[in-house]
Amino acid sequence: MILGISSSGRKNGITSSTVKEILKASNLEYDYISLAGKKINGCIGCLQCASDNVCKLQDDWNEIGEKMLKADAIVFGAPIYSGTINALGHACLERTFCFRHREVFKLAGKLAVSVSTDYAQSVENPVHSIIESVMSKNLVPIVGKVSAKGFSQCYTCGYGENCAVGNVVKDHGFIEKIEHCHYPPSYEQQANTKFEARKVGKILGTIISNK
Ligand SMILES: Cc1cc2nc3c(=O)[nH]c(=O)nc-3n(C[C@H](O)[C@H](O)[C@H](O)COP(=O)(O)O)c2cc1C
Repeated sequence: MILGISSSGRKNGITSSTVKEILKASNLEYDYISLAGKKINGCIGCLQCASDNVCKLQDDWNEIGEKMLKADAIVFGAPIYSGTINALGHACLERTFCFRHREVFKLAGKLAVSVSTDYAQSVENPVHSIIESVMSKNLVPIVGKVSAKGFSQCYTCGYGENCAVGNVVKDHGFIEKIEHCHYPPSYEQQANTKFEARKVGKILGTIISNK
């Protein structure tokens, strides 16, 4: 079983579509979780997990952690918020601390794929490296990465046409009215993202099914 996680605050955003595309392309049984609306605390460093590798904080993460343990691979997708991985995504990854104590690495032997979504497509986007760094602490290698072009909230906030600090004016100048043709590309319009997602999903599926 492959577990897909989208950590975006938007249930049906671009991260979610990209993760789902990878899951489907794997041709394997999968489970999918959106972190939208979930309550996930960051690790509090209580170390109550040191003796048994079980996190004692009780919130929406515990069930996700159980699913991670059951999966052969984890497809983890996160958007960039304020120049870094979004807080929900980081909290979810942080809590895997419980899985590695006393030379026990409960996620070791699994594989992972990293998905990052950002509007600016900045070369300084750290999301892939944060996902990879946490996975590597868990001894989980990343076998593929997919980068998607994100949405910009400035197109639907209601003030985009006139906001001199927003992305609409930055990309199109002061326009009369925001039309659909001004929007950043939807997931469906991103042929290259879809192609990369299918490729990575297919490779992941082949690796897992030949294990
Ligand atoms: C609070 C917030 C902060 C954001 N900060 C950035 C940013 O620093 N750089 C960027 O390129 N996009 C930024 N974005 C845009 C998101 O990365 C983009 O909307 C992405 O599509 C979100 O993923 P989703 O489509 O799966 O919801 C931000 C969005 C939000 C809501």
